[in-house]
Amino acid sequence: MSHIQLCQLLLAVILSYTAHSASGRYHEKDRAVESAVFLSPPLILHPGSVADKFYFDIPFPRGHIALKSFDAEVVDEDGIPVPLHETYLHHWLVERYYGRKGSNIEGELGLKALNHSDFVLVRNDGICKGTLGQYFGLGSETRKTATWVPEPYGIEVGNPDKVPDGFEERWLLNVHAIDTRDVEDRVGCTECKCSLYNVTKDVFGHTLPNDYKGGLYCCYDQTQCQVREGIQNVSRVLYLKYTVKWLGWDENIIPAKIYIFDVTDSGEVPMNSSKENPSHLSCKVEYEIESCKHNDNSECIDTRRTKMVIPTGGDIIYGVSHQHLGGQGAALYGQDGRVLCTSIPTYGEGEEAGNEAGYIVGMSTCYPEPGSVKVVDGEVLTLESNYSSKEAHTGVMALFYILVAESAPDKGTNSNASWELKLPKNTWYFLFAGGILTAIAGIYFLAKRRQNENYQALAAS
Ligand SMILES: *[C@@H]1O[C@H](CO)[C@@H](O)[C@H](O)[C@H]1NC(C)=O
Ligand SMILES: *[C@@H]1O[C@H](CO)[C@@H](O)[C@H](O)[C@H]1NC(C)=O
Ligand SMILES: *[C@@H]1O[C@H](CO)[C@@H](O)[C@H](O)[C@H]1NC(C)=O
Ligand SMILES: *[C@@H]1O[C@H](CO)[C@@H](O)[C@H](O)[C@H]1NC(C)=O
Ligand SMILES: *[C@@H]1O[C@H](CO)[C@@H](O)[C@H](O)[C@H]1NC(C)=O
Ligand SMILES: *[C@@H]1O[C@H](CO)[C@@H](O)[C@H](O)[C@H]1NC(C)=O
Repeated sequence: MSHIQLCQLLLAVILSYTAHSASGRYHEKDRAVESAVFLSPPLILHPGSVADKFYFDIPFPRGHIALKSFDAEVVDEDGIPVPLHETYLHHWLVERYYGRKGSNIEGELGLKALNHSDFVLVRNDGICKGTLGQYFGLGSETRKTATWVPEPYGIEVGNPDKVPDGFEERWLLNVHAIDTRDVEDRVGCTECKCSLYNVTKDVFGHTLPNDYKGGLYCCYDQTQCQVREGIQNVSRVLYLKYTVKWLGWDENIIPAKIYIFDVTDSGEVPMNSSKENPSHLSCKVEYEIESCKHNDNSECIDTRRTKMVIPTGGDIIYGVSHQHLGGQGAALYGQDGRVLCTSIPTYGEGEEAGNEAGYIVGMSTCYPEPGSVKVVDGEVLTLESNYSSKEAHTGVMALFYILVAESAPDKGTNSNASWELKLPKNTWYFLFAGGILTAIAGIYFLAKRRQNENYQALAAS
């Protein structure tokens, strides 16, 4: 209790400093893009330890705005970026919700204290029931993945007319990080192999199926991955530093919808599913790759495909995939087979933060010329994901995050110019970006808590 309060006090100090010192305003065409940098509460990690934290009501820009980007990275107490081989950033997610005015869901305790009549999640437009409802989210690739929403688009939030009476809009941050200093098997720890964590029960205390070898159910908060013997057990304090950019809302901004597709989406409409009971999730989020040694796939590429329906069409204005180690790229195709977007991982080649050898440090993004890549209402899309199967992998993912806007009204005169500017001018955003997301949405976690439902295997298939 007092520890948490202390942390929050510390945070408040840090935040007021950081937010103040790092706020900025600069001009993008005629509009002022605002920017602010924040730090999460401190994550305290020691070798092999896992933090999977949910922070409610995080510092975030307020008011009726258009979000333009959300970038994040793990830093230490001196603000120095921490490389993935020390702290593996499994994922971070940002979720939007309406909180009852005056209610106070805070910090880690918030999950337990959550009064659900005080909390209304505002999901993105994606089709995965009960999960993947976040607005932004990424993993190890966060430093080199662009999240910039091109002009003249924005993700509209904070519209006061949409907030139910008695509520206010707030944001929730989930950070999942694994300290892999001095661990016995760094890849195994990052892939959450249950044997390395000595975990046989999930966070709710339910026994995991025997064939569940690894994934998020084995590396929840405060689990411990096996470390080498005789190591020095040095704790450290880290933060997720996040940078938000936005514009004040105005009617020239075209709102973009967020869709997140998951290659494990079975498309089945769960029989008894409801918001309250996401017990048969059609999106499993994670899956496993078997080693090609056990079959005669000479290329050793595991290809997975799934089809799903996009309810509302429009112009795709941004796209990015999320994959884990072993990922070789993913693509989204239209009903006629045309490529809508291909997203390929970049693997690091060095030691330094942002270029760590053996890790996916970035995902390529798509910025189609507005109007050039369209999908129609109800179109059947195909998501394809390739992984190397030279080694077996547990807990891998293949998500595709796209932004879709209503087709721009046939541009009058002045919009012409603004179409072009973007990419070159904004190059620097791309240095520290983030595109799509990792991992299971916090809300699934919340829902499980609430329901205390029967355990349902995430990746048991
Ligand atoms: C939850 O919030 C509602 C509405 O504010 C209140 O009536 C109720 O007592 C609260 N429940 C708990 C357990 O705090
Ligand atoms: C693994 O967990 C079991 C029971 O949960 C415990 O008895 C055993 O000592 C643990 N092994 C290690 C190496 O921590
Ligand atoms: C390392 O230190 C942390 C606290 O700083 C402690 O909780 C943990 O048990 C220690 N681990 C070992 C292997 O001693
Ligand atoms: C759906 O719910 C009904 C009533 O609650 C129950 O009898 C039935 O077994 C459930 N079906 C599945 C597939 O869970
Ligand atoms: C996946 O691999 C298959 C077979 O090697 C290839 O035809 C396809 O283009 C690849 N897809 C992507 C998105 O890289
Ligand atoms: C708009 O773009 C077209 C083609 O790129 C160009 O020919 C035209 O002059 C532009 N109009 C304005 C008002 O800039």
